[in-house]
Amino acid sequence: MKNEVNNTTFLSDIILPWYDAHKRLLPWRDTGDPYKIWLSEIILQQTRISQGMAYYQRFIEQFPCVEDMAAASEDKILKLWEGLGYYSRARNMHATARIIAQEGAFPNSAQELIRLKGIGPYTAAAISSIAFGECIAAVDGNAYRVLGRIFAIDTPFDTTVGKHLYQQLANSMIAPERPGDFNQAIMDFGSLQCTPLSPQCLSCPLAIHCIAHSEGKEEQYPVKSKTIRITQRYLHYYLIMGQGKVLLHKRNDQDIWKRLYEPFLIESPHPCDPLTINHPWLEQAISLHPHIHIIARNIPHQLTHRQLLIDFVIFSWETDISLPPAPDGYEYLPIDSLSQLAFPIPVRKWLTDIQLPDMH
Ligand code: ADE
Repeated sequence: MKNEVNNTTFLSDIILPWYDAHKRLLPWRDTGDPYKIWLSEIILQQTRISQGMAYYQRFIEQFPCVEDMAAASEDKILKLWEGLGYYSRARNMHATARIIAQEGAFPNSAQELIRLKGIGPYTAAAISSIAFGECIAAVDGNAYRVLGRIFAIDTPFDTTVGKHLYQQLANSMIAPERPGDFNQAIMDFGSLQCTPLSPQCLSCPLAIHCIAHSEGKEEQYPVKSKTIRITQRYLHYYLIMGQGKVLLHKRNDQDIWKRLYEPFLIESPHPCDPLTINHPWLEQAISLHPHIHIIARNIPHQLTHRQLLIDFVIFSWETDISLPPAPDGYEYLPIDSLSQLAFPIPVRKWLTDIQLPDMH
């Protein structure tokens, strides 16, 4: 940081009028209901507004209050969440709904909110400032970028020291009479004006205060320390079907896509041909002479720290031929139950593309 902060109001003096003129009109901004604000913050944790909006509307329609969400089954919640990714958000949200419904009141401070599953420091501060007017800064990627540039902060934001520094700085600048608006102003400012690439500095009302801009180094901030290594995983999916049934499995709690459904899966440590993998159950299935369709090979699917490369194959048998016995953990379910179950995004896409009945 190149200079000390001695004027703590310039940011709110400029950014609140900017917000009043430019803020995005969003349904969770028309309400003081902490349930709706919480739901929006959980959805927006790793999702863009344009994608999250329809999910927000659907959840509010299905579950107008936290008690309704608490009463739903986890499968129903996961089904409604299908396509948003990062499914632990949905499972944690459901667990939290049950706790809040049981306690009978929404926790009304960041300190209490942070005890709940799926609520970290940022989300706790966002909910408590927006719903309850608590004076605490919600520091997300937008805040790192806006503050990192204005103050040319050289401490990496993804370190313990950096997180602390940014939080203190933002807390010292928050507008005490409008903390929720201040936080959301920084979010919108970071999304619309102070963008990661090609920020709109010519029209920026904060440009005269921005050290990164004065040095022509906008895109060098915010500073990050870690570079994350992306690893690859090789998944081979087989849709085993006949007699109006498909072989499915509910994923366990140890790995990606917890408790979502999937067809028969073999994972290999290296890329390989899905029909010559050395796997006893697969060899048995092939020995029963299925019709085999290789639908796609090496379809990439990006997760946060992993790239998946996925093969999709169909094995099908005529109606009067018996199917291979279900391996451990799998069961044959009617094809028309597929529309009720939640699948990982690439699997859902595949099942939709091959136009199995009842997939919409
Ligand atoms: N991202 C996360 N929370 C948000 C909010 N309340 N408004 C806009 N973007 C957000």
